[in-house]
Amino acid sequence: MWKNMKRILLTLAVIEIFSIIHLVQPQNQDGFISLDCGMPIDESPYTDPDSGLVFTSDSVVIQTGESGRVEKAFDNIHIKPYLVMRYFPEGLRNCYTLNVTRNTTYHIGAMFLYGNYDGLNTYPNFDLYLGPNKWETIDLERYKNGTWVGMIHTPRSSSLEMCLVKTGTTFPLISTIEIRPFGNNTYGPRPGSLSTLRYFFNDTSSNIRYPHDIHDRIWSPYYHEYLEWRIINTTFSISSPGIYETPKLALATAATPLNDSLPLEIYWSTKPPTAAVYVYLHFAEIQALRANETREFDIYFNENSNYSAFSPPKLEQRTITFSTVQCPEGFCSLRLVRTKKSTLPPLINAIEAFSIIEFPFAETNPSDVSAIKNIKDTYRLSKISWQGDPCVPQDVFWEHLKCNYTEISSPPRITSLNLSSQGLTGIIVPSIQNLTQLQELDLSNNTLTGEVPKYLAKMKSLLVINLSKNKLSGSIPQALLDRQNDGLLLIYQENPELCRVNSCIVKEKKKFLVPVVASVASVVVIIVISLLIFVIRKKMVSADKQPTKSGTVEDSGDSYESEPSFLTKNRRFTHDEVTTMTNNFQRVLGEGGFGVVYHGLINGAEQIAVKVLSQSSAQGYKQFKAEVELLLRVHHINLVNLVGYCDEGEHLGLIYEYMPNGDLKQHLSGKWSGSVLSWKTRLIITVDAAQGLEYLHTGCKPAMVHRDVKSSNILLDEHFQAKLADFGLSRSFPTANETYVSTVVAGTPGYLDPEYYQTNWLSEKSDVYSFGIVLLEIITNRPIIQHAREKTHIVEWVGLMLQKGDIRSIIDPNLQQDYDSGSVWKALELAMSCVNPSSARRPNMSRVVNDLKDCLAYDTSRRGGSVDMDSKGSVDVSMNFGTEGIPKAR
Ligand SMILES: *[C@@H]1O[C@H](CO)[C@@H](O)[C@H](O)[C@H]1NC(C)=O
Ligand SMILES: *[C@@H]1O[C@H](CO)[C@@H](O)[C@H](O)[C@H]1NC(C)=O
Ligand SMILES: *[C@@H]1O[C@H](CO)[C@@H](O)[C@H](O)[C@H]1NC(C)=O
Ligand SMILES: *[C@@H]1O[C@H](CO)[C@@H](O)[C@H](O)[C@H]1NC(C)=O
Ligand SMILES: *[C@@H]1O[C@H](CO)[C@@H](O)[C@H](O)[C@H]1NC(C)=O
Ligand SMILES: *[C@@H]1O[C@H](CO)[C@@H](O)[C@H](O)[C@H]1NC(C)=O
Ligand SMILES: *[C@@H]1O[C@H](CO)[C@@H](O)[C@H](O)[C@H]1NC(C)=O
Ligand SMILES: *[C@@H]1O[C@H](CO)[C@@H](O)[C@H](O)[C@H]1NC(C)=O
Ligand SMILES: *[C@@H]1O[C@H](CO)[C@@H](O)[C@H](O)[C@H]1NC(C)=O
Repeated sequence: MWKNMKRILLTLAVIEIFSIIHLVQPQNQDGFISLDCGMPIDESPYTDPDSGLVFTSDSVVIQTGESGRVEKAFDNIHIKPYLVMRYFPEGLRNCYTLNVTRNTTYHIGAMFLYGNYDGLNTYPNFDLYLGPNKWETIDLERYKNGTWVGMIHTPRSSSLEMCLVKTGTTFPLISTIEIRPFGNNTYGPRPGSLSTLRYFFNDTSSNIRYPHDIHDRIWSPYYHEYLEWRIINTTFSISSPGIYETPKLALATAATPLNDSLPLEIYWSTKPPTAAVYVYLHFAEIQALRANETREFDIYFNENSNYSAFSPPKLEQRTITFSTVQCPEGFCSLRLVRTKKSTLPPLINAIEAFSIIEFPFAETNPSDVSAIKNIKDTYRLSKISWQGDPCVPQDVFWEHLKCNYTEISSPPRITSLNLSSQGLTGIIVPSIQNLTQLQELDLSNNTLTGEVPKYLAKMKSLLVINLSKNKLSGSIPQALLDRQNDGLLLIYQENPELCRVNSCIVKEKKKFLVPVVASVASVVVIIVISLLIFVIRKKMVSADKQPTKSGTVEDSGDSYESEPSFLTKNRRFTHDEVTTMTNNFQRVLGEGGFGVVYHGLINGAEQIAVKVLSQSSAQGYKQFKAEVELLLRVHHINLVNLVGYCDEGEHLGLIYEYMPNGDLKQHLSGKWSGSVLSWKTRLIITVDAAQGLEYLHTGCKPAMVHRDVKSSNILLDEHFQAKLADFGLSRSFPTANETYVSTVVAGTPGYLDPEYYQTNWLSEKSDVYSFGIVLLEIITNRPIIQHAREKTHIVEWVGLMLQKGDIRSIIDPNLQQDYDSGSVWKALELAMSCVNPSSARRPNMSRVVNDLKDCLAYDTSRRGGSVDMDSKGSVDVSMNFGTEGIPKAR
């Protein structure tokens, strides 16, 4: 029992924060980077009165995030740089890019203090990354007074990326970043990055750091009464002849056992348990010994006698170092045992222990990185996900890219770049050629100008190049056209200035051959596509309800608009035909937003759904034909296919493919089959619906706002494939329950974007809001509006529950916890971002699709495993071994 009490359990890497010992003379801060995160850019650098360090704003090294300030109550506990912080409400990963000197060893530290800046009293939890590798989980619930993490690291490139990655619903934040260069030899050659444990022994609550430590290492005090040792001190100056430059203050006190005959024992654990460990023990005799007194002890590291009969020199530092490839089961022990000859017990002044942090993931190939960053800068792409390493970690890599990962230790390569519809202007940037492993390049639907560059032909790995719908000019390089023979798919339609068949003959007679080859190629493409459309349209005429698994076939913006009109003619039906189809409107399927829907048959076999539009306001349907002609051209696997229409006097009808499996709302309520939709099925359905909506927003020209996204508009076909219904209608039709005024706000109560409601300004983001409500429905399975509830509207109710931290009560109890909580959380977080009151802060549908796919991936990959994120709060995620060992602030 007493023996245990003597053990000192030290903690690694994560330390609690204390006030700093008082200032002496400021010293040289060459090479120090001291960033006060969240400090406004227009404020000039200041000297922190407590540490003497000069802090500057972080705004020059990060473009994202917002400033926050701790509550007043924290002002007295913390030094000035910790009072403001930068927090990151947007994006999964936000990164600082810091300039460093490569191959120089640095001490890298960061402070995190929540201080209830947002008044929500919800302590954030998130991950800290260095480049592509996870460094630490920051759990501020556990460190309410803030936490500081540090490591020794030698960057191999001249920029260092420190990233904060959101892992739950809380926003990551950071208070300071402090980077200090070290002498190269201070700790000898080091094979990797090191996490640090660094203590001196005194009964105090103050850390020692700069200016007492010229390298600004942080030395934490260690002492506990129950340890049964005492602190001895000296006021004499201790000389430090070695290279360690241990601060004199840290050496001026020492620990020694209370009972002179017992050894002094120190234990700590490493994470991972297999980590290699380097130990530096700093000694100095600080008591005045009489002539007949001696202090001599043996040092055992991991129970091996590593050093015998050691006597600390008087008032002079002596450092003894050990290393091991691994402590037994990750548990390191140090014992100082008094020798027989010694009259005094052992003593120790300070200890440092390092363990190697494993950083397994290689950064993306540097030339790919520099090329893609150049592309980003040239086109001024400000994508929130385009921060940090482009390819790793894989769950937060840059949107619009695909990478090839061979093994984790070899640098990933960028293999696909899809910048379609990103508003790119200017020429095709030359740095694209530095992406030497690129297989797919999609620059379609931008306003790129200039010529098609020759170097594209030299990029041997390219398989697909899509340059269509731009303003490119000149002629296509022959070498590139030749590449089509070895399988390159080159798409370049709708570049009016780009030389093709006729125009080139006139302009450039000499290059007669080129356009002919080009045109032959494009004619072939056009014919193939036309045939495809023809076949598919024919299918529609016969109202084939099989979904076309090929996805997007055609959209209204492409060049085939003026194709033969006999196809569309055939899709117009007379009222008589409709009457026959529906067997005199016999079987009602439901009542939609714009009229009653009937079941019908075409050719006596193919099932269809006929929506008969309410006749009362027929004059509002002036644009009917034009609209429907447009809608007939919208095809996507996740949109309910419009196969025909009826427009005869007052008789207006729309004929859709038949969706035999009801809608999402019915399934959620259990009304359809009585059984509960699993979480995975819910996700699959919403991914489908989101893809349909994304297509309306980005795949259609002009973009189409659905305006009436809701769970009852998400229908299921015979294969349970979800399709969005009723799109495009509210553009020119009123909803059934509202009189038609052109400015009236359309939509279903509860799903309606409040911003749109107030401003009457409609955008795709209004659909995103409604989609967010659908997500809340699949998560909670609760009514959107319920007056008996504490908060009537579901968004407010979920917000309240989140604030209360009552996450479990949000989730549909019918799921019976049969889901991956990480997946549900991510979906919840996504839903809440979709329903952000400010449309500008909502994600776009592409982002929603990606995030939902991630949720699905989480659910698929983690289920069955033992990871239960619900118990997150109780899981010890830090590197601490035991909480008793954590020094407490006094
Ligand atoms: C980092 O280095 C780059 C290139 O050397 C330079 O353009 C940039 O201004 C530097 N950033 C800072 C914050 O010093
Ligand atoms: C940096 O260090 C690595 C590994 O020691 C070495 O391979 C590389 O050449 C060094 N680079 C420079 C610029 O010194
Ligand atoms: C935070 O610091 C204050 C003042 O030093 C102290 O009273 C409080 O107990 C500390 N909280 C925690 C969780 O350590
Ligand atoms: C560390 O070593 C590198 C290369 O060996 C050298 O360029 C640099 O100046 C050294 N830094 C210090 C602080 O001694
Ligand atoms: C040790 O702690 C005491 C009490 O807090 C303090 O007065 C003294 O300055 C400390 N000594 C050193 C060397 O830190
Ligand atoms: C230093 O040690 C002496 C006893 O040796 C003790 O009386 C004194 O309080 C100690 N001073 C500090 C600052 O701990
Ligand atoms: C050492 O000598 C002093 C007197 O000079 C005496 O009081 C003390 O007991 C001696 N200690 C030992 C361990 O012999
Ligand atoms: C592309 O590669 C060339 C040659 O290797 C190099 O000079 C150029 O700086 C690179 N450009 C970018 C943006 O990385
Ligand atoms: C990824 O790279 C490796 C090595 O370069 C190559 O063998 C493999 O085919 C690539 N995989 C893909 C999908 O491109």
